[in-house]
Order: sequence, then structure tokens, then C-alpha cells
Amino acid sequence: MVNIDWDALTFQFSKTKSVIRFKYTNGAWDDGRLTDDYTVTMSVAANVLHYGQAIFEGLKAFRCKDGKVRIFRPDENGRRLNSSARQIVMPEFPVERFVEACRQLVADNIEYVPPYGSGGSMYIRPVMYGTTPQIGVNPASDFELVIMCMPVGSYYKNGIKPVDAMISRDFDRAAPHGTGHIKCAGNYAASLLSGKTAKEKYHCPVALFLDPGTHTYIDEFGTSNFLAISKDGKYVTSLSESILPSITNKSLMQVAEDLGMPVERRKVRAEELADFAEVAACGTAVVITPVGRIMDGDKVYDYHLTTIGPALKAIYDRVLAIQHGEYPDTHNWMVQVD
Ligand code: PLP
Ligand code: COI
Repeated sequence: MVNIDWDALTFQFSKTKSVIRFKYTNGAWDDGRLTDDYTVTMSVAANVLHYGQAIFEGLKAFRCKDGKVRIFRPDENGRRLNSSARQIVMPEFPVERFVEACRQLVADNIEYVPPYGSGGSMYIRPVMYGTTPQIGVNPASDFELVIMCMPVGSYYKNGIKPVDAMISRDFDRAAPHGTGHIKCAGNYAASLLSGKTAKEKYHCPVALFLDPGTHTYIDEFGTSNFLAISKDGKYVTSLSESILPSITNKSLMQVAEDLGMPVERRKVRAEELADFAEVAACGTAVVITPVGRIMDGDKVYDYHLTTIGPALKAIYDRVLAIQHGEYPDTHNWMVQVD
């Protein structure tokens, strides 16, 4: 048995028993292998190091009430991986094989899945990168897909207690700004300076990005999508070409509808922040993290929250209940591992 203090888990990298690795050469993916080798050896001229041909994904597995382990919507992550791959000229990986690879990996690392009731989960992180040595600006022809997994707790230190956010207006030179709609390494690199500024200058754990063209509409947080509850009880979330299509947000919209809450996916003006009842970040890593205050230069939007608000709590409870097998999985989101 592994010796892990499940209650002390945070969102940090740790090694488990194995990763699963696939290689793409001569136009085809190999059969893949489970291995304890976490290292990558490649030429210093490898395409990924110069031109950033790298994409990643993030998803979670949960130990359910009946003792089984299930993965949340891995097919959606497989499809998004391929959408990212197409956009930066990388090979697609068949979705069924992706789901099966995640199952195989979690099954091999089953002892590392946090127990039911601990609040922890198993984070699965696939990453794909180009390894061909070259100096011309061209796509690589050799790639590797590695999927790793590790037990995690809350992304932000305070769990579902509100965090503060800072609106970033300093990053319209990156295109797309912030993290963009492709889950690729370069987009995250472009968001690092804003994230650092938010933390160091404003003591905010997270930066909130506006649309890069006009700085008028809310795009998303550096780690997650933006969502809000209006004073008349609507679920409001940003519609934008430059945000990541969050699988969590898509699921929460469905849950909100299931709970009878109207859903509005639309452009959201930054000034509307003054009118919302509740604001939150949502994503695989952050789940639903309420936002207590948002700083925009000298302006502060304060939601006067000490914990998650009632509407978001109802959605949060339902989605967690589905993920842990405490509420019927009517949308067939969960894929059983063992
Ligand atoms: N937006 C960004 C920038 C992210 O990094 C993530 C996390 O993956 C999300 C949104 C949320 O996406 P998902 O719910 O699929 O994890
Ligand atoms: C995720 O939620 O899986 C993410 O990828 C967000 C972040 C940790 C990069």
C-alpha cells in the first residue's frame, strides 16, 4: 500500500507507479507502453523547444461511493486534445484509444486514487510534443504522447473559500492573449507574466483576462473559465473565441439546467461585474472556486462572500455527487476503470 497523507494533498506534481507513453513516427502511433520512466531524452533542436509544438489536457478520476474508480468525461478531453492537435499541426490520437489509455493508466495506479470521502481525486495529465530536430519553422514529424496521473487536492489553498482575482489589462501583445482556445504550452507561457503580476503586486492568486481586442468583455481566468450568477438567479458565462472550451463549464451548464436555472452563454462586459450575486472560476483543477473580490486597477468588485454562495453551492454539490456516484449519472459522464 502507498503511504500518502490524503488529507494533506494539494495540487502538486507527484510520481506514481507508472506513466503511459506513445510514440508517433512514420505517420503512425505505436501501441504504447506503461513505464516508470518519467524522463524525456530529445535533441536540443527538437521542435517543441523552439517553436512550442506542445499541447496538454487535464481530467480527473474519482473513487466512488460503491468503491469503484471512475473517470469524468475522458472522451471530451480526447476530442479537445485532437482539436488542439489540429490547430497546431500535430497528429490526432483516436478518442477511443485515449479513453482506454486513461483507464489503463489509472488501473495501473489504482492505489494512488484518493479514498472516497477524502476530498481528493486522481488528476490525469496527458501531454503531447514534437521531437523532430529541425531549425526551419515547420511542424515536427515525430511526436510523443505521455499520460501521467497523480493524487491531488484543492488547486487554490483555501478549497471552496473565495479567492481574489486581478483583471489583467497588460497582455494584448500575445495572440491569443492569456491561455487562448487551444490547450497548448505557448498560450500558458503567455499568461505567466500576468499570473505573476497578479500574485506579487495585487496578492491575487489568479488573473482574469479580458478580450484582447478591446479589453471590454470578460474572457477567462488563467486556470479556468469565468462564471457568474446574476441577481435574478441566472447562470452567466462568457462566450468568446479566445477561451478554452471548458468541459467543467459545459457540465455545470447542464447541471444548472437540470436544477431549473436559466443559462446564459454570452459576451459579458467587465462593468457587469458590479451586478453579479456570485462569481466563480471553474475547471478540472479548480472545480468551482468562488471569487471573493476582483481588482481592476483601483476599482474593486467585492462579492462579500466568506464561502461559496447558495446557487453555486447547489451546482457544486450536484456535480460532485455525480462524480462520486452519489447521484445518478443520467448524462453518462462517468467511465468505470476497475
Ligand atoms: N480555461 C483554462 C485556461 C484552463 O486551463 C482550464 C483547465 O483546463 C479551463 C479553462 C477549464 O477546462 P476544463 O473544465 O476542461 O478543465
Ligand atoms: C486543468 O484544470 O486541468 C488545467 O489544465 C488547468 C491548469 C492547472 C493548467
